[in-house]
Amino acid sequence: MKLPARVTVCEVGTRDGFQIEPDLIPTELKIEVVDRLSEAGIPRIEVTSFVHPKVVPQLRDAEAVMAKIRRRSGTRYAALVPNDKGAVRAVDAGVDAIHTVLSASESHNLANVNMTIAESLEKLRAVMQVAGRAGVPVGCGISTSFGCPFEGEVPVERLERVVGALVGMGAHAIGLADTTGMANPRQVARVLERLVPRFPDVEWTLHTHDTRAMAIPNILAALEHGVTNVDSSIGGLGGCPFAPGASGNVCSEDLVHCLGAMGVETGIDLDKLIAVSRRVQEIVGRPLPGQIIKAGKATRRYPLPDGVAARLPARP
Ligand code: COA
Ligand code: ZN
Repeated sequence: MKLPARVTVCEVGTRDGFQIEPDLIPTELKIEVVDRLSEAGIPRIEVTSFVHPKVVPQLRDAEAVMAKIRRRSGTRYAALVPNDKGAVRAVDAGVDAIHTVLSASESHNLANVNMTIAESLEKLRAVMQVAGRAGVPVGCGISTSFGCPFEGEVPVERLERVVGALVGMGAHAIGLADTTGMANPRQVARVLERLVPRFPDVEWTLHTHDTRAMAIPNILAALEHGVTNVDSSIGGLGGCPFAPGASGNVCSEDLVHCLGAMGVETGIDLDKLIAVSRRVQEIVGRPLPGQIIKAGKATRRYPLPDGVAARLPARP
């Protein structure tokens, strides 16, 4: 396989995950999780979102979380914003980067941010101005890039038009999001084979949901096609409140384990990450979908069953 030597992981669990937790997670626990993720060496964290507090009440403490996290020098702390009002709040809260949101399909965009794609693009132009004045970099995420839970297939031409519009207004980091786990690896490859050469200056991110157990295969396809930035979520938390059927993101520790096993560097301490995942399970009060936390790493060894050791043939 043709894989990059290094992949940059962005942890989105405290945003994509905590936004749909049925019980409000206390602010100090959110801060604790972000701090532990920092200590595990995560290079990028999407800490929270600056959206309408009535629409996503779970993240209404975004300012308080940003104010109290302990910042590690190697970590970039970002937040999701849908519009200029969110951008102003995020900049005032001291984010290192802004991640924007709009969808490739009209229905999901209306359901999620109450705007048509054209209206969203106008808001994102204003976001870029706010961010530009503050010297804060912007990454533009595109939800439903590979399929929409309302409309079904999203033609690549339509995705390309949205990418083109964002690039036209100055975006150079773009995230393709598989919001409800509809993508498959061949499709990811096909989409990237088309988009990467057409937008050679764009830094691409893949944002996956493991709704149909295709997240890691999709990521591997993306890594073979020039993507080196991947979003993931601790324990596999996650889901969009405005996309029926959405479930967790690809699980961070499973992804870091997989990349590590293949010799792809992430700079993340896997043991510390697994410990964070255990803590998050305690906080949300239920087991999370991650596999490594249950199975242990592939380097795990079990004691030999009775009688086996004595009968083992000598190794050649
Ligand atoms: N943060 C806080 N308040 C905001 C806001 C933001 N980012 N954006 C708008 N508002 C406020 C406005 O100030 C206005 O307040 P007022 O009624 O007191 O004057 C009110 O919300 C309505 O503004 P409007 O622009 O008409 O927003 P809306 O009601 O159409 O909602 C969004 C649009 C984008 C703000 C809302 O749909 C939203 O927050 N969506 C986020 C969805 C999300 O997070 N999805 C999951 C992640 S993919
Ligand atoms: Zn998501």
